[in-house]
Amino acid sequence: MSDGTGGTGGSFGDWAPEELRDAGIALLDRLAAHFSSLDTQRVRPEDLSEERIAAPFRGPLPERSTAFGELLDRTWRDVVPGLTQWNHPGHHAYFSNSSSAPAMLGELFTAAFNVNVMVWESAPAAAAVERQTLDWLADLCGLDWPEADSVLVDGASLATCYALCAARQRLGGHNWREEGASGAPRLRVYCTDQTHSSVAKAAIALGIGTRNVVQLRVDDGILSPARLRRAIAEDRSHGFVPLAVVANLGTTNVAAIDPVEEIAEVCGEERVWLHVDAAYGGFWRIVPQIAEVLPTLARADSVVANPHKVLFCPMEASALFVRHPGALRETFSLVPEYLRTTTGDDRLDHMNYSLQLGRQFRALKVWWVLQSFGREGLRSRLEHSVRLAESLTARIDEHPHWRPARRSVLPLVTMVYDDPALGAEGGDRLAAEVHRLINAEGGSAVSHTRYQDRYALRVSIGNIHTAHRHIESLWDSIRRAEKTVLEGVEHGDHDLARTRP
Ligand SMILES: Cc1ncc(COP(=O)(O)O)c(C=O)c1O
Repeated sequence: MSDGTGGTGGSFGDWAPEELRDAGIALLDRLAAHFSSLDTQRVRPEDLSEERIAAPFRGPLPERSTAFGELLDRTWRDVVPGLTQWNHPGHHAYFSNSSSAPAMLGELFTAAFNVNVMVWESAPAAAAVERQTLDWLADLCGLDWPEADSVLVDGASLATCYALCAARQRLGGHNWREEGASGAPRLRVYCTDQTHSSVAKAAIALGIGTRNVVQLRVDDGILSPARLRRAIAEDRSHGFVPLAVVANLGTTNVAAIDPVEEIAEVCGEERVWLHVDAAYGGFWRIVPQIAEVLPTLARADSVVANPHKVLFCPMEASALFVRHPGALRETFSLVPEYLRTTTGDDRLDHMNYSLQLGRQFRALKVWWVLQSFGREGLRSRLEHSVRLAESLTARIDEHPHWRPARRSVLPLVTMVYDDPALGAEGGDRLAAEVHRLINAEGGSAVSHTRYQDRYALRVSIGNIHTAHRHIESLWDSIRRAEKTVLEGVEHGDHDLARTRP
């Protein structure tokens, strides 16, 4: 391999095309080796201290060029061991999103062509691919909204913010675009205490204020339409203006699913915008047994679903759909002279659908994945994850003390430890310690939440590399950790009743 300095001593110009090819092959070789040995690697670094992880990167900016081979060596020596391996088959923390080969290569293509999808003429074919990709994604979510405004954004947090911004623009009674907050009514947004924090963040950004996010407390994880109706009526009687309801198709904590159809009924009668956070749950509809029980989203005003959570795409691919044609464009379109084009069709200019002007070609990785696997291939992969979650749940059900915190049709398995001898606090403390031990062991990683005031382990299953043996090995690790903690209690090393996790 050449030294990667472009044959120019690194003083001007880019690498020669042959050098790009050689360096690219060297990188792909390393990645292939990385993927063949994933099973034997730790999911997370053993030592997570900032000192340990950050130390190798400190130092002055190099004055002279570094050969690419050396950069690869350094990256594999200092970066790779300090990463949490989201593609690891034992990564079950948060939502276990994994990347796939076509999506990785799609990102490489995107960077190579340095596409900027802001107006039609800045990236015509990319804009067309984004339109088609969004139509396919809408189809996978069961949305039949041919005229919808839709856009790919980096994540569900921003998608929700954009949806609420469009809701506000459509509300009437106050021109938010021109007047801003001056003389504006006090808006209210409704959700549950299980709803993702991105809704409160959107309220901060939009000047709605977190106090005006009405988080209805729910005991069973889902939003009650009757309570929602009462909350809206009460707020109206106090002079608030109800803006939107955010319903969940798969909550972060326990993958609960709100009764979206009944909520849509209330929203329709009250003329309140319904945004559905289907960031996690949206694409599981392609599994027939899940489609049977998921509510339809037809009457929602907007929906967000994340290919980067479920469809084997690397981070930063989230799809926002708004049922009302033009709703996003009315909210965000603002065209300075230098961006005026001859097409005169604002649907084609992707800068009009969000706050972002310069935009990467994030549709390509999704487009490649959808075609590489096809609907059938995606369905069978997602079905496989559902089977794995069922097998783990069966293990939990057989165990005398572990129980699911809440059962979901989606493959997020949650576990609480119930042993009358330990009480709730002792069970929570044991679960927290088991959590720590599993992650310290290194073969798997899980995360946690609090649900119904209990400490629950969260095991998200959905990684493209996860096989039955990885779930078996996770269960073994859970049992080992449980045994260690209980032995510690017997020997007086642990006092499970003492502190709350
Ligand atoms: C249900 C739900 N909504 C929204 C988000 C925010 O997603 P993003 O990270 O794409 O902004 C998450 C993140 O995990 C989530 O679980």
